[in-house]
Order: sequence, then structure tokens, then C-alpha cells
Amino acid sequence: MSTPERIKTDVLVVGSGIAGLSFSLKACRYADVVVVTKKERIESNTNYAQGGVAAVFDPGDSHDMHVADTLVAGAGLCHRRAVEELVREGPERVRELMDWGVRFSREGGRVSLGREAGHSERRILHAADLTGQEIERALLEAVAAEPRITLLEDHFVWSLATVMDPTWNRVRCAGALVLDVHGGRWKAVDARSVMLAAGGTGFLYRHTTNPDIATGDGIALGYAAGAAVANLEFVQFHPTAMYPAEERAQLVSEAVRGEGAVLRRRDGVEFMPAYHPDGSLAPRDVVARACDAEMKRTGDDFVLLDLSPIDPGVVAERFPNIERECAQRGIELPRDPIPVVPAAHYQCGGLLTDWDGRTSLTGLYASGEIACTGVHGANRLASNSLLEAVVFSHRASIRLAADLHALPGIPSIDWQLPDLEAPGSAAVDVERTIRDLMWDRVGIVRSDDRLEAARTEIDALSGHAIARDGTGPGAMRGRQAEFMREVAALVVRSAQRRRESRGLHFTESHPRRDNEHFLRDTVLAR
Ligand code: SIN
Repeated sequence: MSTPERIKTDVLVVGSGIAGLSFSLKACRYADVVVVTKKERIESNTNYAQGGVAAVFDPGDSHDMHVADTLVAGAGLCHRRAVEELVREGPERVRELMDWGVRFSREGGRVSLGREAGHSERRILHAADLTGQEIERALLEAVAAEPRITLLEDHFVWSLATVMDPTWNRVRCAGALVLDVHGGRWKAVDARSVMLAAGGTGFLYRHTTNPDIATGDGIALGYAAGAAVANLEFVQFHPTAMYPAEERAQLVSEAVRGEGAVLRRRDGVEFMPAYHPDGSLAPRDVVARACDAEMKRTGDDFVLLDLSPIDPGVVAERFPNIERECAQRGIELPRDPIPVVPAAHYQCGGLLTDWDGRTSLTGLYASGEIACTGVHGANRLASNSLLEAVVFSHRASIRLAADLHALPGIPSIDWQLPDLEAPGSAAVDVERTIRDLMWDRVGIVRSDDRLEAARTEIDALSGHAIARDGTGPGAMRGRQAEFMREVAALVVRSAQRRRESRGLHFTESHPRRDNEHFLRDTVLAR
């Protein structure tokens, strides 16, 4: 264990979702690419995406309308130029996905376009209700055919390496120390540049639609290495996860409400019209807060999603996976309503990037959920995330091609290997504490007192080491809990800075929007 295996590459990509894979497929045209993922290659947030990819394909739709819808959802914090690039480049990038083999659902010879909240037109391309799975399948097949891409499963990034670059006279990212989880061996990856595409932070919350890999590793890694983060307070809760919400709550796509399903209380009353003129298809933050308020008011553990207004044929064709998941729980659609609760779904903030995926640390790029490109502002418009990933990964790949010329050869790094055996609190206990406190105190409705309590609890956790048990998986779990703790602290700090309510950040202590003081990103840097 004393000397790590050395790997040299032009680009190290962390994460095998849509952002990492689409980037790799472009970058391999001019560079050697190593992709690492801490689980199996298919395990990513992308894989669980149901709704789809928003893009202007309908002749009655327009770029201006998609831009306008995105800006409205973002509650004043979207960066207009980033949104315009997203929308303008979107259709071309979606066609590229099709060229890579993604089969979107079609009807009448055209792609079928679904509707979701906040969209003034039908513009969601989808593959029935398993869009993410279809995208992953196609991209992984395309990657497998590329000789310049090496994909390493069960490889966990422990830390990023930085060096002082004499050419640029600044600190630069130059690779990563990686744990081969099952082999329990270290690999030191010397890379001229690193792309972090490691997904979001849903697993910081007790209830989430995300898989257990969504522990915010990339954000913690980037921040520790010196990159700035932005807008981490804007955590999106999806209003309709199936109840009971298990370890990973089963999502019921917003597209279901797009086709006519409505939310009701357990007593049958449709409650959303009292909250918003768009009723059950109101923006996601409004619906999640309304569900939360109704559950608190009635004491019920869930609300109901009633699919009976939808034609049974449409349910079967459009939502076969949801229908199957419901059948396994004894719920027959569209006859029976689905018990649902809100669950943490998407991190709108992340590592701050420019429009070409560059973070504030030279040589470090970010794309996908992990990045804050300026597209989502204070609230992401449904199905803009997969689009953001392909558009900004493409842009980053063009930028990197130019940057690589200027980034000289890989400097030699003195790799320090951490101890894999260390006593401390059990990782599983730390995870549970973080997930509970984030849910109870940093959730859908916040307050100064609850945020301060969360800060104190996280500070207390930070005073203790987290155990590593000497095996690869056990050491990874301990390190992952450290990442969760660091990212939880950043989310709380960001939320405490924003003393107003806007988009996904709602606090009883400051219930109004304050454009005078807070019409800006919340940026944190070491
Ligand atoms: C959904 O299908 O409701 C999720 C889509 C998204 O999060 O954009």
C-alpha cells in the first residue's frame, strides 16, 4: 500500500452520468480520457431521471418562450446569457444524443413532447418514463467503442491534487488520488485537467429521490482544492415521491401532472388551486411547500396524487415504469391514487463555473448537477438539468481543447497516502445524523433558529473523526461521510447568508423576497 499505482492521462473525468459521459465522448477526439466512478458505471442520478430533456422542437414553441419560462422559474437569479446559450444550443445537443443512439419516444413520425410544470409549451423529450436509463444505455455503449476512453468502476476520488504552476504562476489542479474500492489499492492519477461531473447532494437528506451515491463528493473535493461554490441553499424538493419514501424514494414524474393528474388531501379535497392559479402544475417549489403545509396542517403523513383524469391508455403507454412500481405496492393506476410526499431531488447550486465549464481553480472543470452555471438561479425549471449537462459539457470540451495547449505537461506530484484505518464515530451514524438534521432544519421551510441549530450540530460533528475500517468500501464510506459533513456545512452557511425567501429557499424568519440586498449569487470560497 505504500506506493500508489501511477496513471497518466490528459483528462480525468469524475462521474459516469450524462455530463461526464457526453463530455468524455467529445474530449476523446483530442485527448486521452480516464473516467472514474465510485460504483458501477450505470449508477448515476441520470439513470433515475424520469421526465426527460427540455428543448424547443415543437413548431409552435420558440427559444424566447423557453428562455422566459426558465427565467421565471429561477426567481431573478438566472444568468440570462447562460440561459440563452442553454436554449439556443439545446436542440443541436439533443440531436447529438440521438446520433449516439438515444431512442426518444415518438408519435406520428415525430418526437413525442411531454409537458411539465413551468413550461408554457410541450417541450419534454422522453423515453416513456425511463428517459435517464435510456440515455445512460446509449452513452455507455458509445463510450465502450472509444479506444481513448478508459472507464474505471468502483474507483473513488479521495482528494484532488493541486500544484503551483510556474507557467501560469497560479495553483492548478493536476489530478487526483483515487481508491480502487474493491482492490483496496491507491491509484495516483496525474492529469493535465480534471472534469468533475459527480452529481448532486440528495443523499444529505433523510428522504430523497436520489441514489445513495449523491453525497456531494465532487463539491467537497472542488471546494477543498480551492474552487468557489455558489447558491448551495437552493435545494429542490420534488413534490411527488411515493410514500412510504424508502432509502431512495421512488419518484412519480411531474409529467404525470403534466398529463392531468391532480393532488388531493386524504379527505379528497384538491388543494393546489388555493395556492396557485396553475393548480397541481404550479412551479415545483410552490407545490412542494403546499404539500408540506397540508401535511403539517392535517397531521397526515402524505397527500394523494390522483391519476383518474388521465386516459388509462395514456398511463400505460407514457408511464409504464410508474404503473409497474405502483402495481408492486398494490396500487392500480389510474383507479387508485398514489400516496406521495416531497423528497430532496436536485441541487441547483454547486461549483461555480463560467459558460465553458471552468471553475475558479485552473485546470478544474465542472458540469451537470455539480456545477452552478447560472442556468437555474433560485429554482430549476423541470427537465432543464439533462439539457444543461449536455450543453455545458459540450462547451467545456471545446474550451478544454484550447486550454490543453496552454496547460503544460503534468508536473510531478508528491502523493501523500492517507491512513485507511482510523478510529472515530461510525460513518453510518454520522450519515444518519446529517440526513436527519438536514431534513428537519434545512428542508422545505427554514428559519433562522433552525439553521443556527443545524450549524451548531454540524460543528459538533466536525469535532470528531469518522472511522475508517481498513477495507476499501469501509474507508470510502468514512471519507464519504466527511464529504457529506463538509457539504452540509456549506449548504447551511449559504442558507444563513440569504436572509430573504426566494425560489427554493423559503424561511419563515424572512418570508419576503429582498431584491435590494439579495439579487445575487451566494458565493463561498476558501
Ligand atoms: C420528473 O420527472 O418529474 C423529474 C424531472 C426533473 O427533475 O427535471
